[in-house]
Amino acid sequence: MSLSGNAIVAGIIGWPINHSRSPLIHGHWLQKYGIDGTYVPFAVHPDNAVDAIRSLPKIGIAGINVTVPHKVTAFNVVDVRDAASEAIGAVNTIVVQSDGSLHGSNTDAPGLLAHLQVSAPDWKPKAAPAVILGAGGSARAAVHALLEAGVPEIRIINRTKSKAENLASNFGEHIKVVNWSDRASSLAECGLLVNTTSLGMKGQQPLEMPLDDLPKTAVVYDIVYVPLETNLLATARARGNKVVDGLGMLLHQATPGFHAWFGVNPTVDEALRKVILDDLK
Ligand code: ATR
Repeated sequence: MSLSGNAIVAGIIGWPINHSRSPLIHGHWLQKYGIDGTYVPFAVHPDNAVDAIRSLPKIGIAGINVTVPHKVTAFNVVDVRDAASEAIGAVNTIVVQSDGSLHGSNTDAPGLLAHLQVSAPDWKPKAAPAVILGAGGSARAAVHALLEAGVPEIRIINRTKSKAENLASNFGEHIKVVNWSDRASSLAECGLLVNTTSLGMKGQQPLEMPLDDLPKTAVVYDIVYVPLETNLLATARARGNKVVDGLGMLLHQATPGFHAWFGVNPTVDEALRKVILDDLK
């Protein structure tokens, strides 16, 4: 669709940026809602990230998403941060305010939770502990989301234990660190298993995670979405567990930014999933 002189401009910064699916997501919504606006991928070298973010209000950009490796830089540059970004230590969405100040948020946590609640409506967050594999940025988002939802205990399991301990010390008493070698037995009595590591992703090593101790009522969530059905999800599905794939988180994390920049609260539906799935083929 062609743009007028009033067109709203938003986008995403990253380095590299060509693998990002965000332009497809936002482009789909812009077209769907007939909005006079655009969403641009900006390849920003790390040396230029601070200047690029600070220049947003100067050239009238409504805001941006921030992806690897700029999320911590964005966290440090913005003027105001929401509670999720404070807890996670990273900003993935910036909204330029009318006074030119920069509002930073982290929509990975609400995106993860929204997708989980839509996909597994019977999951009861307060009923049982959760297990999270990994201790990187995605794990932090998952921990924040699950604590917000009221999960009573979160068992963090990471190959590098010191990173799990560091995460636990940031998030407090509800977090228990479990050794990577004890990951299978940690599943006893848990209501949710979330993989936030890159294991099982196309081109990466497989995730070895025996599920024998996992209650059949537990939900299994893999944030990996290439392939959409990872071995973890296939194994869980075969034994009767409810499974949630990682694509929905990618789609749901995009909604708050779109709403803030373009003024429409977009829906995450099958048509949008198909756009991204076709692109992943
Ligand atoms: P993200 O921001 O997506 O969380 P990240 O911060 O790079 O990405 O974290 C990747 C996670 O995958 C980490 O928990 C990492 O474990 P380490 O902290 O030990 O590096 C985990 N991971 C990656 N490769 C792994 C492997 N071969 N075995 C076990 N864990 C692995």
